[in-house]
Amino acid sequence: MEPVKVGLLGLGTVGGGTANVLSRNAEEISRRAGRDIIITHASARDISKPRLCDTSQMKLTENPLDVVSDPDVEIIVELIGGDTLSKELVLKAIANKKHVVTANKALIAKYGNEIFSAAQKNGVMVAFEAAVAGGIPIIKALREGLAGNTIDWLAGIINGTGNFILTEMEQKQRDFADVLAEAQRLGYAEADPTFDVEGIDAAHKLTILASIAFGIPLQFDKVYCEGISKICREDVEYASELGYTIKHLGVSRRTDNGIELRVHPTLISRERLIANVNGVMNAVLVHGDAVGPTLYYGAGAGSDPTASAVVADIIDVVRVLTTDSENRVPHLAFQPSKIQDMPILAIDDIETAYYCRLTVDDRAGVLAEITRIFAEFDISIVSMVQKELHNSQDEKCSIVLITHKTIENKMNSAISQIQSLECVDGEIVKIRLEELDG
Ligand code: HSE
Repeated sequence: MEPVKVGLLGLGTVGGGTANVLSRNAEEISRRAGRDIIITHASARDISKPRLCDTSQMKLTENPLDVVSDPDVEIIVELIGGDTLSKELVLKAIANKKHVVTANKALIAKYGNEIFSAAQKNGVMVAFEAAVAGGIPIIKALREGLAGNTIDWLAGIINGTGNFILTEMEQKQRDFADVLAEAQRLGYAEADPTFDVEGIDAAHKLTILASIAFGIPLQFDKVYCEGISKICREDVEYASELGYTIKHLGVSRRTDNGIELRVHPTLISRERLIANVNGVMNAVLVHGDAVGPTLYYGAGAGSDPTASAVVADIIDVVRVLTTDSENRVPHLAFQPSKIQDMPILAIDDIETAYYCRLTVDDRAGVLAEITRIFAEFDISIVSMVQKELHNSQDEKCSIVLITHKTIENKMNSAISQIQSLECVDGEIVKIRLEELDG
């Protein structure tokens, strides 16, 4: 049988990795797919640049439209990122009846509904395993392996750069900027690293996971998103003393009132396996009603790990090239006509536990004033410790406390009343805490 011809858009970190994995594992891949797979045509912004992979068998161009319109190419692999040119190219490829494999989370999170509907009309596949959690086959696990379950919730460390930064800050007391520069050098960080640090990248990925888990449309604009740039060493240290670690989590939960969709720094008990996922590694915890909690762990970024997911998608497409398009696994796991528009909860309406740190006057009655306000809002405190402030000249101390679960707007109201007390100095720190106990 003729080899399947692939057109590659982008020869950077992931594009180079994809070409390398395809050629290094060509024999194993062919045994699995039933056909040889070769990249015949590739585009890059500057084709004279030295590459990490062998391009000698590829026709190279600086115009990606040449690849998308190449009549010999059956599968387009989009690895250029961004969501403007990539959207145009992917829609063009679909219109030209080519299957698409992409690692582009921004593209899928923002325009996936439109792209999948175009793909369905044209009878082609759009595969996007590499868009979430790099090399971890989490899309496949959620969409196929857990298809018998009603998914209750999921929570994931889905940005490698953010996790790398938090881990290095906690374990090696390194500076934020220094760790971020290393992540950029290693090819983990996004072109705009604020996407990593401010949670936008994680929000793209959470949008995709939640759609597949709950059968809802992709709704990136409804994700509550808070980054890690305000996390300070003090809170990392106090959390650790109380038995917690701070991770940047994407959380999505089905509730009676709608779906929670949120990305923020989160305290997690050290006893949870996911609390021990460090460095650039990613992990996603999924709770299904039948299976209970399941955990998926692996490299969330980097050349070869991301290529592992891209190549698996290419093989999946090759395996179904001749099948009837109606009988393929649906893009978002549920039949397109059965996608349900469930409400997405505003952050004020979510329910979780909290860690708070307050700087207060160190005198009689202060604790009583604070706990009275929590009691008024029916917020129950799990534990509370007082910390001396080493540099304080003027009899101040820190109060660190952890609450039971409550509704976010109650917590915000309590904090705003406590903030206005005379004994409170500076801004109260609030970090959400998840039990993740099933
Ligand atoms: N910048 C992303 C991360 C790359 O650090 O996880 C993989 O999506």
